[in-house]
Amino acid sequence: MPGSTHLITLYRFAKGTDARYASLWRRALPGLFQPFATTRMDRYPTLFLFALATLGNDPSTRLLSFGCSTGEEVFSLRRYFPQAVIRGIDINPRNIARCRARLSRLTDDRLSFAVAASAAGEEAGGYDAVFAMAVFRHGELGDFPPLCSHLLRFDAFEQALAELAVCLKPGGLLFLRHANCRFTDTRLANSFDLLLEAPRHPATPIYGRDERLLAPQPALEGVAFRKRVS
Ligand SMILES: C[S@@+](CC[C@H](N)C(=O)[O-])C[C@H]1O[C@@H](n2cnc3c(N)ncnc32)[C@H](O)[C@@H]1O
Repeated sequence: MPGSTHLITLYRFAKGTDARYASLWRRALPGLFQPFATTRMDRYPTLFLFALATLGNDPSTRLLSFGCSTGEEVFSLRRYFPQAVIRGIDINPRNIARCRARLSRLTDDRLSFAVAASAAGEEAGGYDAVFAMAVFRHGELGDFPPLCSHLLRFDAFEQALAELAVCLKPGGLLFLRHANCRFTDTRLANSFDLLLEAPRHPATPIYGRDERLLAPQPALEGVAFRKRVS
């Protein structure tokens, strides 16, 4: 059917363009993990509800969305936490421009956005929860290549997590989803307790500290961890 052929051609063109865009970003930006900005409103309702049940709805609550993309995660969190201070950071200035454009149409001085490639600039011990969702992955690993080194470095993953851990208050919550590496393989893991598991996404290959593809993993993965108090 000519109509569907055109649609397929259009889809392939768009996909190719997206891949070229991603690879440009990868070359241009040191520290980049997932280059794709895929997101949507209320993408993680179970985790957001879990955060609310654990932290409560308190005006002193401070949340960080690391890799916030175009802001949907932050604006969704606002619905769960109407009083909290919520900050979104993303490496991609175009994403943050879109976040700020949306924020400018609201009256909410307890939301903020910044361009940043890491959490190193955030206040130490400043956050009750950090969300790092679909950031520590790379869309071009979807074919399960035997090594991830050309797209994702374990050292960078561990370093970024160490910076996020510094931002958390003692007892603060770390939420991780869809990573290509396991938090439990990092040296930080013994400073955190596992609080919650969720079904693993089957299309996400998992790599070890040596950046080699691991055997198929258990059906559940850790998604919420609490930073130990001492
Ligand atoms: C797939 S989106 C995830 C958006 C949202 N967290 C979600 O789960 O819906 C990944 C985002 O991570 C951002 N990102 C990748 N590497 C980053 C880094 N080193 N620092 C901050 N943001 C980064 C990308 O720009 C992109 O917007």
